[in-house]
This record gives sequence, structure tokens and C-alpha cells, in this order.
Amino acid sequence: MKIKNICCIGAGYVGGPTMAVIAQKCSKVKVTVVDINEKRIKQWNDPDVQNIPIYEPGLSEIVEETRGKNLFFSTDVDRAIDEADMIFISVNTPTKTYGIGKGMAADLKYIELCARQIAAVAKNDKIVIEKSTLPVRTAAALKNILDNAGNGVKYQILSNPEFLAEGTAVEDLRNPDRVLIGGDVETEEGREAMDALVNIYASWVPKERILTTNVWSSELSKLTANAFLAQRVSSINAISELCEKTGADVNEVSRAVGMDSRVGSKFLKASVGFGGSCFQKDILNLVYIARTYNLQEVADYWEQVIIMNDHQKRRFAANMVQTMYNTVAGKKIALLGWAFKKDTNDTRESAAIYVADYLLNEQAEIVVYDPKVTEEQIYSDLDYLGSRSGDANRQAVTVVDSPYEACEDAHAIAVLTEWNEFKELDWQKLYDQMLKPAFLFDGRRLLEPKTKKEIGFEFYAIGN
Ligand code: NAD
Ligand code: UDX
Repeated sequence: MKIKNICCIGAGYVGGPTMAVIAQKCSKVKVTVVDINEKRIKQWNDPDVQNIPIYEPGLSEIVEETRGKNLFFSTDVDRAIDEADMIFISVNTPTKTYGIGKGMAADLKYIELCARQIAAVAKNDKIVIEKSTLPVRTAAALKNILDNAGNGVKYQILSNPEFLAEGTAVEDLRNPDRVLIGGDVETEEGREAMDALVNIYASWVPKERILTTNVWSSELSKLTANAFLAQRVSSINAISELCEKTGADVNEVSRAVGMDSRVGSKFLKASVGFGGSCFQKDILNLVYIARTYNLQEVADYWEQVIIMNDHQKRRFAANMVQTMYNTVAGKKIALLGWAFKKDTNDTRESAAIYVADYLLNEQAEIVVYDPKVTEEQIYSDLDYLGSRSGDANRQAVTVVDSPYEACEDAHAIAVLTEWNEFKELDWQKLYDQMLKPAFLFDGRRLLEPKTKKEIGFEFYAIGN
């Protein structure tokens, strides 16, 4: 089966970069990324590629190279569906905020809308690919909706979860540890569809890294991979608190543990807590699925990863208050970093939001500097929590575009995102501008402690 036209529904953090790389690597395939969000599509089509809506190192260069040649961004969803042989569904699957499973289950309304739209528009056979992260057995629901459209079109549903991490998306896509493709391995048509997708990736991924499985294994593997990664962060964060009580240093513990080849060194960096759009929602989803099958111990086991993460964020903020003589009311606190990790402008579930909220409840004045996150985004993140009115957030929080401006007359600095540029700041200059004693809280173990203490900072770092 030769694929000539690909459509991707959802031009977000996954759809955008993934399709840009497919377009670059498969120059004979026309790739159209569609979205209902007109503003987002307009940004993807901005003549100045620096204005595309997603910041990822290396992404704007690929968009510049492929856009208008074989990569297109559009709001005409129907047309792109109609033209495509292969449709990737890459829409958001957030945690439900209403009804049954509120706060736990994945909200599949966007997925279902896509399926219904495909069913309504398609006139010839299609391969439909789950790129979004979905609960195990969603493919059965998709197939049901598509097959009941009754217009004679045949669909093959594949699961092809995305493992890219933000901030390294382009590198992860170019050189993935593995590509996972789940399909109907029992039928000839199923195997043909899987081969068609394997061939797309085989343009640049070595065949031995392309895994094919049944659909359910593929769907469940994605949730499991994220749960395992997040569990490692919560595990080391749990140890960070013990380190602070005992004189052990979490970086030293992490290094010693990670050098065991059975454990491995990645994802053992203690932090103010993991964030991002995936870990929390995917674990909650896993917990919900386990509860649905009445597997209470399985559910409790995974839920603990989230409980630990919430604790880590809260305890970081609580420690700030306690260290600053049990009050931050009216004190100016500079937050360096708002994104959930470096090299992305994404702030979803960022620890910074929760630390700021805690400090605002203690009546602190907050000033934020982040190199890639907009002021509008920061206020919208705080407003979304609903802890206070939008006006109150705007009154208590200022967003500035220089770290030096942020720290002027501040009582404390908290480093909440590990942006490289924070290591290179003139820390003496920052110290000189601050009120004394000048407190410095490193939520990322980013800064070298000795020099900061020599300057005169009251220095605190996670797990030390
Ligand atoms: P996102 O919110 O950045 O993008 C999703 C896009 O889909 C939005 O622009 C939205 O407008 C669009 N959309 C929603 N319904 C639509 C419809 N009916 N028609 C057309 N467009 C529609 O989300 P994301 O971060 O790209 O994540 C997408 C999926 O990929 C999620 O399931 C997520 O769990 C998964 N995932 C995300 C990451 C990541 O790092 N962000 C990594 C792996 C997997
Ligand atoms: C994650 C998965 O890694 C990726 O495979 C999946 O496809 C999507 O979800 P992402 O959320 O983009 O990717 O970033 P990731 O690098 O996993 O970081 C998640 C959070 O964990 C960040 O807040 C990060 O700062 C934190 N983290 C990560 C730590 O605190 N310590 C670590 O050692 C690693």
C-alpha cells in the first residue's frame, strides 16, 4: 500500500513536530496538519517561522524547509480527511473535568468528534492512526463509530503512540528509541495497514527499532511508559526529602544508584516536582482504568506517584515560607522559570504554577521571568486554578522580561525551571540588588552552591 497523502488532526505539541519530521523525511508524501483552532493554524503559517506556536529547538528550521512544499497547515479538516490515505489523530486527551471519572479518566470527546467527522467525510478506505495517548481499548470504540457510519468505507485502526518529550522533540523524532505500531495482527488487511505505517517510519528509523504489537499492548504500553518514567522522578523526589533530613545529598545518591546498569542513570534528577501535559493525566488515567476493573491495589500503587509529586511541589513552597521566618506576606519573590521544563514554552501542569499559587495564598508578591513563556500564558495558568480572581492575580503577580528586573528589591529567588541561561546569570549583580538576607531556593539543582553561598546568599537546594 503506497501512502501519498497524510492528514493529521491536531496541530499541537505532538501533531506539529511529528508531521514536520515525517514531511522532512518523506519528501514524496504530502502532509497536511489540520486544527479547529484558527489562531494556532495562523501561527503555524506565519511567514516568519520564529512565530510558530510551539517552541522546540530545531523545529522552526524544519518548518522553513518543508512548509508549502509537502507540509501544509490548514483549518479545512474535511478536505484534508477526504484527500488522505492515512489519518493521524493527534488531538488532546486531557483529564475529565466533569461527570463520571471527573479528575481521573481521560476525556475522549475530542477523539470521538474526530472519528465522527472522518466517518461523515470519508469516501474511500482509510488507515486511521491513534497518535494521541488513549485508554487501553479505545481503538474498539473508534472502530465502532467508524464502522457504523454505513457509507461502505473500510477502516483500519492502528495505535502509534508518541514517545517524544518536549524540549527534545525534534531529536526524539529523528532518532527514537523505538516506534510502536499496534494493529490487527490477525487479518491480512490489518497487517497491510501496519506495513504501510512501518514503511513511513522506515524512511529514517532502523527497522529493528520499529515494534509491531497488537492494538491493546500498544495503547497500554504508552500509559505504562509514562507511569514508569514519572515513578522514577517521584522515587528520587521521595529520597530528596530524606536527604535533607540526614545530610545525604540526593545528587550523590542519584549518581550512585543510577550507575547500577540494572537501574540506569536517566530520570533520576530530583526536582520541585514533575509537570507537563502527560505524566499526571496518563497516570490518573491508568489508575482510573485499574479501578474500573476493580484492581484497587494496582490503582493505589500508581496513585502514590501523583501523591508524592503533589507533596514535593507543596513542600518546596512550604519550605520557602518557613525559611523566610514563617511569613512571606508582602515580600517580593522572584520566580525564575515558569515552563514545566527547559527548552519548551509549554506550561501545562508546571510546578511553578503550584508554587506561585501557594505563595500567593501566603500573600507574597510574585515577579516571574521565563525566557519563552508569555505574560498572557502565566496569568491564564493562574486564573485556571481558580484560587482567586483574575484581577487579584494581576495585582499580585508581575511578569518581566529580564531576570535582573525580576530580582530587584526581592527578598528571595526561586529557580523553578532548569533553563541553561540561569546558570550563566551574574549572581553577584542579582545579590547586590536584593534585600538582605537574600534567599535563593533552587528547585532544580541547577546552581553551583559554593559560589552562591560565598556571594552571601542564604542558599537552599532540593535534596541537600
Ligand atoms: P495539544 O493540546 O498541544 O494539541 C491538540 C490540538 O488538537 C489542539 O490544537 C486542538 O485545537 C486540536 N483539536 C482538538 N479537537 C480537534 C478536532 N475535533 N479537530 C481538529 N483539531 C482538534 O496536545 P498535544 O500536547 O499535542 O497532545 C496531543 C496528544 O498526544 C495527547 O493525547 C497527549 O497525551 C499525547 N502526547 C503528548 C506528548 C507531549 O509531550 N505533549 C507526548 C506524547 C503524547
Ligand atoms: C513525557 C515523556 O517523557 C515522553 O516520553 C512522553 O511522550 C510525554 O511525556 P514530557 O512531559 O514532554 O515527556 O517531558 P519529560 O522530559 O518526561 O519531563 C516531565 C517532567 O519531569 C518535567 O517537569 C521534568 O522537569 C521532570 N523531570 C524529568 C524531573 O523532575 N526529573 C527527571 O529526572 C526527569
